[in-house]
Amino acid sequence: MTLSIPHGGKLINRVDLNYNFSALASEIEMDAMALSDLELIANGAYSPLVGFLGKNDYESVLQNMRLANGIVWSIPITLPVTEDTAQKLKIGEKVRLTFENETYGVIELQELYTPNKKEEAENVYQTADPEHPGVKKLLHRSNIYAAGPIVLTKFPLKHPDFKRYYKTPIEVRKEFQQRNWNTVVGFQTRNPVHRAHEYIQKTALEMVDGLFLNPLVGETKPDDIPAAIRLKSYEVLLKNYYPNDRVYLGIFLASMRYAGPKEAIFHALVRKNYGCTHFIVGRDHAGVGNYYGTYDAQKIFNQFNLEEIGITILSFEHSFYCTKCKSMASSKTCPHNKTDHLHLSGTKVREMLRNGEMPPPEFSRPEVIEVLIKGLQDS
Ligand code: ADX
Repeated sequence: MTLSIPHGGKLINRVDLNYNFSALASEIEMDAMALSDLELIANGAYSPLVGFLGKNDYESVLQNMRLANGIVWSIPITLPVTEDTAQKLKIGEKVRLTFENETYGVIELQELYTPNKKEEAENVYQTADPEHPGVKKLLHRSNIYAAGPIVLTKFPLKHPDFKRYYKTPIEVRKEFQQRNWNTVVGFQTRNPVHRAHEYIQKTALEMVDGLFLNPLVGETKPDDIPAAIRLKSYEVLLKNYYPNDRVYLGIFLASMRYAGPKEAIFHALVRKNYGCTHFIVGRDHAGVGNYYGTYDAQKIFNQFNLEEIGITILSFEHSFYCTKCKSMASSKTCPHNKTDHLHLSGTKVREMLRNGEMPPPEFSRPEVIEVLIKGLQDS
């Protein structure tokens, strides 16, 4: 086996740090989500995308989970602009893409179109409930989408901790090759890694050469643990409990959509672009509240054949510590009652951490908890 072939056949690279944009008069001010999407299109993580989606692709993604050319793609990657900005733009011109008054890229403007946001919400998030964090974000963004191929002219990453763990798909693939890994399992998370995460990662690692721990560090909802604190918790966990030569930590810059099943497909395709051959989908992947069924994000992959997805999905059942088995287990491997299983809700854990209380070691490694408590107290 070798590393995965990128989605669509080849890795896109639209980074040009010498691009001269000084003569371009028009600009679009991006939000943080668009900025991270710009970078991920340019560095190839979103291959085969070369820009923000035009109307045809956008509608095809909503209706069929495919780009207009038939390639599987489940989350619309869009560039919202205000009506004021849209009025000033001309189709066909090159436009600077800015964030906080700094230019990070250029778009060759091919289209401006008005999305039906209710339809987008119902298709992507399976709900139009404005309380859903992904829908809330969608509704908050501007109402016109600009589309066309992009170039990244400057890497946005500023935070030094993040920088250490930022690698492009080309660099990540090189790292896998240097480690002689032919099979690599990718792991997406927006949370600290607790024992249940560790259990499914290590179970997967028994079957492949390496684990790519690829936490999402883009925008998350306010009550999720901030990425800078999480990064420290991953470092201490890896140092104490994982063999160095079997795990590689790299950050994923995207914003969280909380789109459950559709985001699981997106997450898998992106990790394929980083070279992963396998991808973990556990319980309620990329879910929030009660919007999705526990295993919906696994079932959705049945709608495609393996060649179309091009990365093997490793599905895991709900995992926990069982006081009768005296080990980690899952609903697939443990015969005991729910009352024998250690279960703490995300809300409960966050409350404990904020109060400086340690959840039991069967739930989370003490070293991880210490970092989280300290990080939250300092923040
Ligand atoms: S996610 O929103 O990024 O999916 P999370 O960090 O909760 O966030 O989950 C990361 C991965 O671990 C997902 O694939 C999820 O399905 C899986 N997962 C989380 N908790 C469990 C658990 N207790 N049992 C099985 N899988 C889990």
